[in-house]
Amino acid sequence: MTKITKAVLPVAGFGTRVLPATKTIPKEMLPVVDRPALQYVVDEALEAGIEHFIFVTGRGKGAIEDYFDTAYELEDALKNKGKIEILDGILDAKPLEGTMSFVRQQAAKGLGHAVWCARDIVGDEPFAVLLPDVLIQTRAGVKSCLAQMMEAYENVGGNIIAVDPVPEERVSSYGVISPKDPTGYMDKTLIAIEKMVEKPSIEEAPSNLKITGRYILQPELMSLLRNQAAGAGGEIQLTDAMTRLMKEQEFHAYVYDGQDYDCGSKIGYFEAVLAYAKMNPEIGSQAKDLIAKFA
Ligand code: G1P
Repeated sequence: MTKITKAVLPVAGFGTRVLPATKTIPKEMLPVVDRPALQYVVDEALEAGIEHFIFVTGRGKGAIEDYFDTAYELEDALKNKGKIEILDGILDAKPLEGTMSFVRQQAAKGLGHAVWCARDIVGDEPFAVLLPDVLIQTRAGVKSCLAQMMEAYENVGGNIIAVDPVPEERVSSYGVISPKDPTGYMDKTLIAIEKMVEKPSIEEAPSNLKITGRYILQPELMSLLRNQAAGAGGEIQLTDAMTRLMKEQEFHAYVYDGQDYDCGSKIGYFEAVLAYAKMNPEIGSQAKDLIAKFA
């Protein structure tokens, strides 16, 4: 089985739900405690063995490239001031040269189109997709979400999509899957998928298992995306192309062990800041006291 080493991270979106904060700062760069939200997603992927990151970016997203680059003046200033621990932290987080690629999505045509923009760099190998709006926090000692999915992939191969149950009234905000075995899937972590629907109404939703924003996909998807018609919201949907690929290939849903936060929304972002502050080794206990104070 081909090892998965490449991940596509679509970062071209405007972040309209958290304006005006995102007018000049990419939403992926909003700080969660002491680092940009995007750093958590990169760390999740690194833990899963990803070696090359493909960012699908757009206008006004230059801060993302700069973040992963050398900051000569800053590094020099920290060194001169003897702030070696902080400097080491910055140097450690810097990726190895040549392990990040940036391609532009020139028009906001949807998630499926964004992933397709990465096709030349992905090439003919299976790849991961991580939607950086969504942070998935795991408890101490539990592997990252994508690392859990990689383990499942080693057993079943094919295509794997992270899913999580949501209350019925929220299904219309997500892609939703339906299990092949409608009665026997409840306690399982790996579920064969029958079909999936993007942003269904409550009546249309085949289950309450929402697609969370982590995928392991086979390269054949790229050629389907090339001529994928617009779907929900008038956008080229990844879910629709995956539905077509399901005719030829196996798709499994993976129920991960972790908690997801939608940082593309005000309340999801706020919740992520609280959750990561509580887990932070430096400020965790003070953060818990503060949260209790405001309860
Ligand atoms: C995208 C996907 C959807 C998924 C969601 C997770 O939708 O199309 O299937 O459930 O991400 O966050 P978006 O949030 O971009 O509308």
